[in-house]
Amino acid sequence: MAKTVLITGTSSGYGKAIAELFVKRGWNVVATMRAPKPDILSGPLERLKIIALDVTRPDTIRQAIAAAIEAFGSIDVWINNAGIGMASAVEITPDSAIREVFETNTFGIFNACREIIPQMRKQGHGVIVNVTSSVTIGVMPLVAIYAASKFAVEGYSESLSYELEQFGIKVRLVEPGYAPTTNFTANGGPRMQGLIPQDYASFAQAAFARMANYPTAFCTEAEVADAAFAAATDTGRRLRFPAGADTKMLAQLRWSTSEDIYLDRMREMFVPETF
Ligand SMILES: NC(=O)c1ccc[n+]([C@@H]2O[C@H](COP(=O)([O-])OP(=O)(O)OC[C@H]3O[C@@H](n4cnc5c(N)ncnc54)[C@H](OP(=O)(O)O)[C@@H]3O)[C@@H](O)[C@H]2O)c1
Repeated sequence: MAKTVLITGTSSGYGKAIAELFVKRGWNVVATMRAPKPDILSGPLERLKIIALDVTRPDTIRQAIAAAIEAFGSIDVWINNAGIGMASAVEITPDSAIREVFETNTFGIFNACREIIPQMRKQGHGVIVNVTSSVTIGVMPLVAIYAASKFAVEGYSESLSYELEQFGIKVRLVEPGYAPTTNFTANGGPRMQGLIPQDYASFAQAAFARMANYPTAFCTEAEVADAAFAAATDTGRRLRFPAGADTKMLAQLRWSTSEDIYLDRMREMFVPETF
């Protein structure tokens, strides 16, 4: 019998690619979006349901779970992919912008897990995959709030993985690198408006130019979809599934060298020499 996956944030980018891969591999797919648009994804109608879900609204999470169970009988894998980005200078980032990022990236995942865990316990099995970022391995300047929102999910997921093992529920992390092909940067634009003030402007310009000139290839949507599929189906106890050449380079630097070498190399890559 086909297994069922529910994915959040499938209207574009990584979430859309993940949904397409699971459809291709023969799974039942519940593709959720804040504002469902049926023409974004295609697949056999009997195996693909497009349902409304806003991770900041627990009522929509509960409705999506009920609809998925009614359609397919169980939710074997839940992928928390929905997320938003932000680059800003910390000293002028207002509380409202910080809370907006955390409401989606962090509390959105807490909301979803709170709702899906009882269902998975009832089933006696399940896999929860939380999408964080390569930023949790190597952090560049001007993304402190975004990094904080994703680091929180890393600690949460590691703890939760031990807590849920007893019920046959696995928790996994997918850590994608940067992909300029998704809507991530464009979606963050309005939120970041005016949050790089004049005193930071030339630093930011030089730092972003360095990021654009990355020493490896960027991540691709296909690599993230593969990592999410591996995370969903792995039979072992592995927690982290990094995706993309950029993430793997950062992981190598972070975990295979000393803290001093890691910090020096990160400065060379991301901090302009004149600052
Ligand atoms: N692209 C990158 O460079 C990068 C790097 C590392 C990690 N990531 C992470 O990868 C994940 C996917 O990002 P992406 O690059 O694919 O960006 P994207 O193309 O902007 O996709 C993000 C998705 O999240 C959805 N979303 C936003 N707020 C939501 C909410 N409150 N409830 C439900 N869905 C919501 C968006 O839906 P709407 O269409 O409704 O806005 C969209 O479908 C995010 O968690 C992001 O932090 C991205």
